[in-house]
Amino acid sequence: MANRLFRKKSVDQILSDAEHGGSGLAKILGVRDLVSLGIAAIVGAGIFSTIGLASYNGGPAVSMLFVFVAFACVFTALSYAQFASTVPVSGSAYTYAYVTFGELFAWIIGWALVLEYAVSNMVVAISWSQYFVSMLEGFGINIPRWMTMAPGYALDAHQKFLEVGLDKMENIDKIALQAYETAPRIAGMPIILDIPAGIITVLVTWLVYIGIKESRKASNIMVIIKVGIILAVILGGIFFVKPENWMPFAPNGLGGVMSGVAAVFFAFIGFDSISTTAEECKNPQRDLPRAMIYCLLICAVLYVAITLVLTGMVNYKELNVKDPLAYVFSYVGFDHMAGIISVTSVIAITSALLVFQLAQPRIWMTMSRDGLLGKSFSKIHPKYKTPSFATIVTGFVVAIPALFFKMDFFVDLTSVGTFFAFILVCCGVLYMDHSGISKKSKFRVPYVNGKYIVGIGFLVGLFLVYRYGGETLDHWLTMGSTEILLHKSLVIVFWLVWAVMSVLSYKYNFSLLPVIGVLINLYLMSELGASNWIIFIIWLLIGLVIYFAYGYKHSKLGKEEK
Ligand code: ALA
Repeated sequence: MANRLFRKKSVDQILSDAEHGGSGLAKILGVRDLVSLGIAAIVGAGIFSTIGLASYNGGPAVSMLFVFVAFACVFTALSYAQFASTVPVSGSAYTYAYVTFGELFAWIIGWALVLEYAVSNMVVAISWSQYFVSMLEGFGINIPRWMTMAPGYALDAHQKFLEVGLDKMENIDKIALQAYETAPRIAGMPIILDIPAGIITVLVTWLVYIGIKESRKASNIMVIIKVGIILAVILGGIFFVKPENWMPFAPNGLGGVMSGVAAVFFAFIGFDSISTTAEECKNPQRDLPRAMIYCLLICAVLYVAITLVLTGMVNYKELNVKDPLAYVFSYVGFDHMAGIISVTSVIAITSALLVFQLAQPRIWMTMSRDGLLGKSFSKIHPKYKTPSFATIVTGFVVAIPALFFKMDFFVDLTSVGTFFAFILVCCGVLYMDHSGISKKSKFRVPYVNGKYIVGIGFLVGLFLVYRYGGETLDHWLTMGSTEILLHKSLVIVFWLVWAVMSVLSYKYNFSLLPVIGVLINLYLMSELGASNWIIFIIWLLIGLVIYFAYGYKHSKLGKEEK
């Protein structure tokens, strides 16, 4: 049984399947298109909205969190790049896990990637709707409130109204209350749903359905507009920066900065998604690694600059708003600029939606080819040359929850799932090196021997915690064991993994950079709340049930082995 669960694909077999199986996808993407697709995916709801709350909590020092998270992503991107140059097929981390850790892990990763692509797109669609509605309001067009939000917001606002009364409610809640009060009713139940979020998902899905060429054109145009506006914000905003706003740099300490981890990480998610277009690249082995690193570096520079400009233009306490980029310009009296930014945010978020809608069906397509999902998922449209059925399913899977659910819950869940996938990809490179698969890689993560460095780093880390973490340790001592288990177990896991990595690095001369990738991602992941973890584990369990009910029996590899 264990042998069957961990049956692995060989790199040669994957390459020959892709070559002879003839996926039928059109091979048209070059480096420029890939960088453009990468930026289209990365720059979206994160930088246009969640940066606000992160800066409010952490102050100007959040710019350093962007640097730190970008580092984590660079180590991961290098690992993705090595895999993409070895196994240039559409499955991304799913296929990489199939080659290294075997079928069960591959399924688990594929299942976790649904969180990264489909669930994150629910967030993006809901955020798009929020910007779209406020943009229309800027033009004096008002859609009835009950058509523009998840019922949860309206019900919460109604509850608040009953508890504290209208006077004590914030503006944002008053709007939601209006939705509750004006909604049509069926059998007394208010009908409230986020129609713009549903419609934009359907439109983008249609674009993805009719062809990669059209998607490429659309994404290229959107990226030019998006980067243009971000540069305009940076260059225009510089003139309004007051250096005294950067003091104090971290007003709420390290804790304040780290509370923005999920939001900042969410803003970087997407650079890996271009690896799912491997079968549509002209020269995937050469172009994918380059494109991934380029777009990550470009975005990191833009993000750090934007954070410094925002926190320099206004006091960080002003930034708890949904549209920080536009807000800072209206704050300094530049309403025109604020208006332009509102409109562009809508375009920017649309392109992020596009790339993830493109990526999800391609992963399902690859899983279906392997027999782990039904055959329809790998059906290619004869005219449009796109995975038609999988694309339509993605449309429904994203559009329906986007109509009815609140976004907050999905942001952290996306981050947990993505961190998990990133960690396994970094581990995969260590395995590739160890098993000799790396010899087939056209791009390799630069090798620095981690034999001693990982262990020395571990000891230095422990010393620093002992020396400077006194307050935190004292706090732990006041907590009960259940509380520690619930809120700190991941921190313990982090240190245990570092210890194990130290031993393994010593034994197997592990490559340092992927090890750092594993550790930084795990550390950032440990900063996310326990409730996300519990939901993530439930998600994985559901995935396992599906695997054992279907994939385990229908696996193509399994049938070939028989
Ligand atoms: N990075 C993507 C965004 O910011 C997910 O929307």
